Amino acid sequence: MDLEIDFRTGSSLRRQLEDALRVAIRSGRLVPGSALPPSRDLAEQLGVSRGVVIDFPRAGWKAALMRALRELPDTRLGYANHRGIAELRNALAGYLARVRGVVVQPEHVVVCCAASQALTVLWHALRHQGGRRVAIEDPGWRWQRYTVEHAGLEAVPVRVDGDGTVVSELAAADVDAVVMTPAHHYPTGVVMTAERRGALIAWARERGALIVEDDYDVDYRFGRDPVASLQGLAPDLVAFVGTTSKTLAPALRLAWVVPPSHLIDDVENVLLVTGVTPPTLDQIAMASFIEDAALERHLRSMRRRYRAKRDVLVAALGRQLSEVRVSGTAAGLHVLAWLPDGADEHATAMRARQSGVGVHELHRHCTTQAPSASALLLGFALPTESELVTATQLLASALCLCLGAVLMAVLARRIRRRPGA
Ligand SMILES: Cc1ncc(COP(=O)(O)O)c(C=O)c1O
Repeated sequence: MDLEIDFRTGSSLRRQLEDALRVAIRSGRLVPGSALPPSRDLAEQLGVSRGVVIDFPRAGWKAALMRALRELPDTRLGYANHRGIAELRNALAGYLARVRGVVVQPEHVVVCCAASQALTVLWHALRHQGGRRVAIEDPGWRWQRYTVEHAGLEAVPVRVDGDGTVVSELAAADVDAVVMTPAHHYPTGVVMTAERRGALIAWARERGALIVEDDYDVDYRFGRDPVASLQGLAPDLVAFVGTTSKTLAPALRLAWVVPPSHLIDDVENVLLVTGVTPPTLDQIAMASFIEDAALERHLRSMRRRYRAKRDVLVAALGRQLSEVRVSGTAAGLHVLAWLPDGADEHATAMRARQSGVGVHELHRHCTTQAPSASALLLGFALPTESELVTATQLLASALCLCLGAVLMAVLARRIRRRPGA
């Protein structure tokens, strides 16, 4: 069964869908109860490419790694300092101070295998100091909650609104720490306001609580410069966490944490006991990548490419899905697209995934707060610009079919009720 819908026209998707269904029902091609075509068929018609290529500075990384392998003396092939090798801690201290305003001495930088490991290590250190409850953002990155719970602490969800985490709710949450993404909230894209940042620090100081700042995607800002780190405002209260997962690639498994000084010894003990540290060769390669400015060259070029991709995606959404609203600041590697009233985000996401378009539902990132509207997270890092346009068409088809199932039932009921129908 063909539904004749032209996604390029200016008229609303709902309107076009309604018209197409009306024509199909009237002509007898669609009878009440018939199944709408699976979006996989549409995917095949539109010829979407499922293949994606990862963006990674292979040549530069290979050169850094080969140099490390060539030059590393045998004496350094033994156990390394479990806080990280000196070269990388020096390089990171300079880089984070310059780029993020982090207040740090090299000896206070701890190199980890991933942001998730950095969080886990922090929670064990906190627990050792008597901490029991940690506030998590709701919605928020699910792994934050998983790491809190896995460390035997209680995760307490706290709301996020258009100004960032709702700090006034922290007092009632009765927590020893809070973990957050203030520079670019995951997944809504909100930047925490200066007033909230001030209130947060005042709360933490009065309570003696720890703030864990997850600075996961700060390298990608497409409009204004990122706000400086919270850690720079209160280094005695904030543990700053960074990762290469967005900056370079998740496969590197390289991250860092700058804990406040009262946690450093406990953090070190956790690392000592678990024995999990990134390989020395990778750490040396990363250090030279920072020192030789290869990282900044890579970021300059990636910022241009990601900005172009984001622009293509947002423009395609505006053209093909004008009812969808994109929210959040222009940053990071995903956009949050709010679906029109009546759209079921789960059904739409399922259909989109069946057609090869990887999207996430906002609900997946919620702990207790059910958002009043439906939204999907659309990542734009991996697809090419033309794949993004195709993916948007497929998403429009998926949304169309989901809204169609609802509309079809309504229309069929209306048509049946009409005298002489
Ligand atoms: C909020 C947030 N923090 C951190 C990360 C990266 O974590 P990791 O370094 O464990 O890969 C992500 C990745 O999606 C994220 O969304």
